[in-house]
Amino acid sequence: MEINRSDIVWHDQSVTREDRESRLGQKGAVIWFTGLSGCGKSTVANELDRQLGSLGCVTMLLDGDNLRHGLCAPPSVLAEEHGEGFAKRFGLGFEEIDREENIRRVGAVAALMASAGLITLAALVSPYRRDRDRVRRMVSAGGCESDFLEVFVDTPLEICEKRDPKGLYQKARAGEIQHFTGISDPYEIPESPEVHLHGGDDRSPAEQAADVLSVLKMRKIVGLPEAE
Ligand code: ADX
Repeated sequence: MEINRSDIVWHDQSVTREDRESRLGQKGAVIWFTGLSGCGKSTVANELDRQLGSLGCVTMLLDGDNLRHGLCAPPSVLAEEHGEGFAKRFGLGFEEIDREENIRRVGAVAALMASAGLITLAALVSPYRRDRDRVRRMVSAGGCESDFLEVFVDTPLEICEKRDPKGLYQKARAGEIQHFTGISDPYEIPESPEVHLHGGDDRSPAEQAADVLSVLKMRKIVGLPEAE
């Protein structure tokens, strides 16, 4: 039977987002890294996570590759525990509609974490602009525009393919993997990302993470050190 939308009612919680943020002494936010597989987004996100930690910030890193082991697992993983029907219905692959659901799930988790006051880093290929923009709207709906920052890790395909850390580009070229972003599937570049990093140049991941950190400071997501 169809579920009536009006039968699902929001219940206001006693402890507000502001309460949670003031407990942590910081503002929640979502920093969304997007770019081709092998572009370096996870590396820069990990580095930023470390830098934020050393400033005393409470953070979480949501990495696409890792989430696909649990929350966004493929049908082959789900089938073992839940059976074929369930796996077919809820397992995710890399077709456009699967990626839409992947980004929706991870976006919703990131928004929840931000509302718990965490500085939440997410690193996913997220090749479709529409999916990324939906996350931006969802996150911004709970607070203000500056709660969401898109970081485009813009590394030329040739460099990503040369790095090929997991050997997936080689498989995609050989036709062993379908729908591979950049080879047999599109990547829609962000139109106006808050941060545009150029991967493959001679700057280290630590320097690139520091670029993102300075935007976070400028936007007061991370506090500036108190003047002596
Ligand atoms: S997304 O497009 O839905 O955002 P996500 O970031 O979760 O993708 O996962 C991408 C990772 O899955 C890549 O880094 C790569 O290791 C692996 N992968 C396996 N198959 C594909 C594919 N067809 N396209 C892109 N990445 C793939």
